[in-house]
Amino acid sequence: MKNTVSAALAALCVLSAAGCGSPVRKDIPAYLDPSRTVEERVADALPRLTLEEKVALTHAQSKFSSPGVPRLGIPELWCTDGPHGIRPEVLWDDWDQAGWTNDSCTAFPALSCLAATWDREMSLLFGRSIGEEARYRKKDILLGPGVNICRTPLNGRNFEYMGEDPFLAGAMVVPYVRGVQENGVAACVKHFAVNNQETRRTSTNSVVDDRTLYEIYLPAFRAAVREGGAWAVMGSYNLYNGQFNCHNKRLLCDILKGEWGFDGVVVSDWGGARDDDEAITNGLDLEFGTWTNGLSGAPSDKYNNYHLANPYLARLRDGRAGTKELDDKASRILRTMFRTSMSSGPHYGSFNSPEHYAAARRIAAAGTVLLKNEDGVLPLRVPAGGKLLVVGENAVKKMVVGGGSSNLKTKYEITPLEALQEAFPDVDVQWERGYVGDVGRVYNKVDTGQDLSESRSPEALLADALSAARTADAVVFIGGLNKSRNQDNEGTDRLDLGLPYGQPELILALAEVAPKMVLVNISGSPVAMPWAGAVKGIVQGWYGGSESGRALADVLTGAVNPSGRLPFTLPKSLSDGPLQSERQYPGILPEGEKWWQEYYDEGVFVGYRWYDTKGIPVDFPFGHGLSYTDFEYGSASLSKKSIACAGTYSVEDPALDREVVCAVVSVKNIGGCDGAEVVQLYVAAPEGGVSRPAKELRGFEKVFLRQGAGADVRMSLPLRSLSRFDQDSHCWIVDPGTYRLLIGSTSADIRVELELSVR
Ligand code: BGC
Repeated sequence: MKNTVSAALAALCVLSAAGCGSPVRKDIPAYLDPSRTVEERVADALPRLTLEEKVALTHAQSKFSSPGVPRLGIPELWCTDGPHGIRPEVLWDDWDQAGWTNDSCTAFPALSCLAATWDREMSLLFGRSIGEEARYRKKDILLGPGVNICRTPLNGRNFEYMGEDPFLAGAMVVPYVRGVQENGVAACVKHFAVNNQETRRTSTNSVVDDRTLYEIYLPAFRAAVREGGAWAVMGSYNLYNGQFNCHNKRLLCDILKGEWGFDGVVVSDWGGARDDDEAITNGLDLEFGTWTNGLSGAPSDKYNNYHLANPYLARLRDGRAGTKELDDKASRILRTMFRTSMSSGPHYGSFNSPEHYAAARRIAAAGTVLLKNEDGVLPLRVPAGGKLLVVGENAVKKMVVGGGSSNLKTKYEITPLEALQEAFPDVDVQWERGYVGDVGRVYNKVDTGQDLSESRSPEALLADALSAARTADAVVFIGGLNKSRNQDNEGTDRLDLGLPYGQPELILALAEVAPKMVLVNISGSPVAMPWAGAVKGIVQGWYGGSESGRALADVLTGAVNPSGRLPFTLPKSLSDGPLQSERQYPGILPEGEKWWQEYYDEGVFVGYRWYDTKGIPVDFPFGHGLSYTDFEYGSASLSKKSIACAGTYSVEDPALDREVVCAVVSVKNIGGCDGAEVVQLYVAAPEGGVSRPAKELRGFEKVFLRQGAGADVRMSLPLRSLSRFDQDSHCWIVDPGTYRLLIGSTSADIRVELELSVR
């Protein structure tokens, strides 16, 4: 066995050198032969491994790698964050940078921006591009995308996720996963599951009923696995059902691997495994971490002390653990290798290509949302020789650095101010800071190189901004959140919904002297906009990556007609929202309980499902976004007016994914320029019986229309779109009655209503 690899390679070399075409591969062990199926290779490799080698596969040997099987030529398995670009190399056993000089990547926009494109093509482009970067950097598992639902606007990681709606997140995650995996890189969908806050993320138990779980918190993960074919899933830090999610029997064994038939690898979040026995029996395959238990200090042989290392070996040796689970874990890890670094490929990837930067710019622009455009203040028109004043820290702050594990080192990042100066060469583009937010520039030793220190007092900053605004032809305020602590940042949640650093007061003062001011909010989560009435134009921008500034300028100048839509509601205040009590958020510690308990009392009424059903006014609704052109909705029809499909369906009944009806609506661009409309289809279930949201997104299409052009937009509805989950029977139920199919431009702007009778 010892010389298997070299003998096989030698045989190959001789045959190739002899020039006899494709080499005869019968001397190669099946597991090394890429022309074999993945399953044949797994079956061949597994029995060759010793017990110790199998165990070694199941846990980390460094921050981001596990050892492979060197004796058999099976390479190390390398992971990387994810999900917005390829993380710079860190030290073998520390989060600090390794100091490489060839690891500055293309930074793509944050996933909240991708979700805001409402464009599956953008998602595929994103996945392919980032997958190419991962492959070039020899990474086998990309730690992303994240699809946890935006349950509270305060969640520090909303910017890494895809909004508040499971259908939107599910539709958007699928092409991303496929695009990544085309490159022989596994997408690792995270953080599974019901992990919707950062506050006490490692000590909070999510108490959620099954209906809510299946209708709201699981569908995007399911789509990633069942439709996207994701090869990896990451367990989350929190608990569900009183058990940590990295070894949660119900989530991993019963649902993910059971109901969904997931055959890939379950990776722990870093330090998320917490129990020796559960780590073995409850569906975890590959343990990563920080120190021994992932959370605190450790002895020097830390990796050997992982739950799936020596404690596992000890149990295997004395018979407390059997080899069945071990073989399953090792098979899944081998399968991952045969799908990635050892796949037939060829996959070489590419890095920092002009195409990747162009993709980043396109996606960032496509996700930018025009929230308000009174009197047509946008696109910006500034006379040649005139003055454009830009106010706000986010106009100059580099945002690729920071935020937690999605922190990146990029080759370059164009700020909004730089991009506006580029876009208006004949205009005097000036900048005033207005407020001081976060002056930090280093994160995990990645340095933006920016000195944002400020000596002026808040009063002086305000006075300087106001006086500059008085003489400007146009004023654009660019503020919002950033990626520092208690903003859009892993490990902490925000403290409130409003804009920080005194921005609301500054905005109101500026709007008085510059009544035509345009405001750009850069954030990855919803912010309150009590000042919305005082400004003429509002744009929701995001953490846009390397080309962030240019993408924003594209929209502000009109080079790109905005077509982004909100992936979440912008509520007026937190108290309007579904999380009304401390037990719902951030959770309570009941007497006698070991872990904090967070009760999902609001059930399925999350985001617009809550505001809509309760009739609570919001600043901007889910799905909202304007264009520089106008769209007219014409006639609409259904392929059937009445269908016989009412009944009860088992949880993974294939019938649920079959089309039952198709809606067609004609849409015309009647405005002054080309543009794209996002046609949205919501379903309102029959009234009576179990309480259901007023409406739920069940379909959407983004359609690009030249000025004056029209199109028939088709949206197919599978049976699943009409169903609700029934906790008692553990089945999907389609109730009989009249369903209303609401087609519109936002969740609050329904243009056409159709009826479907279900028997
Ligand atoms: C995060 C994960 C990330 C991992 C590795 C954890 O703290 O929750 O999302 O992939 O670290 O950096």
